[in-house]
Amino acid sequence: MPNNQLTAQVQELLEQAQNAAKRAYAPYSHFQVGAALLLADGSVSLGCNVENASYGATMCAERVALFAACAAGKLSPQQPPQILAVTALPCALCLQVLAEFAGPDLSIWVAGAEGEQPQHFCLKDLLPHTFKL
Ligand code: THU
Repeated sequence: MPNNQLTAQVQELLEQAQNAAKRAYAPYSHFQVGAALLLADGSVSLGCNVENASYGATMCAERVALFAACAAGKLSPQQPPQILAVTALPCALCLQVLAEFAGPDLSIWVAGAEGEQPQHFCLKDLLPHTFKL
């Protein structure tokens, strides 16, 4: 099946991302983001943005999900994630962190606003030129 199909599994991940967004700590921007990362072993790592009074210490939802998966021993270049579902388009920092672990064809689904369809991208669409050492 092509990876741009809005399957029941993708819909479930998008719902999980939307629920995670409700747990965001975003008293400064009031912009709540949620992420659901389907891992190599079939489990899901959730993230929400966590802001801070120093602003610079804020962490994006996507990187919360990625780093939690890494800390759980479930994410590495040898155990790449399968799908990322998010409630907003990932920033370039999060895309670069994703590219550390995922290949260019990783599916990224972005939930639409009320009444809009989710959008599908591949990592390479959003970050065509990955920084490499
Ligand atoms: N944010 C994310 O959680 N993910 C992104 O990819 C972009 C931005 C958060 C950070 C901050 O808490 C809020 O959105 C506004 O920038």
